[in-house]
Amino acid sequence: MENLHVLNHPLLQHKLSILRDKNTGVKDFREIVAEIATLMCYEATRDLPLMDVEIETPVAKARVKVLAGKKLALVPILRAGLGMVDGIITLIPSAKVGHIGLYRDPDTLEPVEYYCKMPADISERDIIILDPMLATGGSASAAIQFLKNYECKSIKLMNIIAAPEGIRRIQTDHPDVDIFCAAVDDHLNEHGYIVPGLGDAGDRIFGTK
Ligand code: URA
Repeated sequence: MENLHVLNHPLLQHKLSILRDKNTGVKDFREIVAEIATLMCYEATRDLPLMDVEIETPVAKARVKVLAGKKLALVPILRAGLGMVDGIITLIPSAKVGHIGLYRDPDTLEPVEYYCKMPADISERDIIILDPMLATGGSASAAIQFLKNYECKSIKLMNIIAAPEGIRRIQTDHPDVDIFCAAVDDHLNEHGYIVPGLGDAGDRIFGTK
């Protein structure tokens, strides 16, 4: 599928295997989530535009490339998405960060927004939505729709592990959104966990279990 980018670099795969291991503790888990986000960011920003500038090296004048200054915003989906923010800020320190929190209405099972704080110029920014796990895709789809309602035009979704169900949902609801992940796992179990997955990403990042 054209809008699905599975990043299978050996470093990513190695780090992901450490995340999957149930014996990996909170400190290592947190650090590795951030490292994976850094590595994924490298690929997800491959299309950033460049421009030419004149500089002087110690040896000669040179025409070199620099980023053309496209404005980016990271939008972590609370709470697990927060674990990916620092890893990306390492590479793109000027990125702004908007936050979105969603819960699932127990009656309708539809995601409902309970928190939202976006940069004022969000509609002018290229957006990367962050959530380590793409399970049913309900939250990610709602977050994308939410940002589209804000007139955002360029939206990417970054997940560490994606389930086929979630990928299908995003491709159906938002075929214009590129999905970046490090692995596509087998399926969702009856509790909505990705199998084999890594468990509850939020709990493992924040040590709440
Ligand atoms: N969210 C998680 O943290 N883990 C899953 O397996 C599915 C959703």
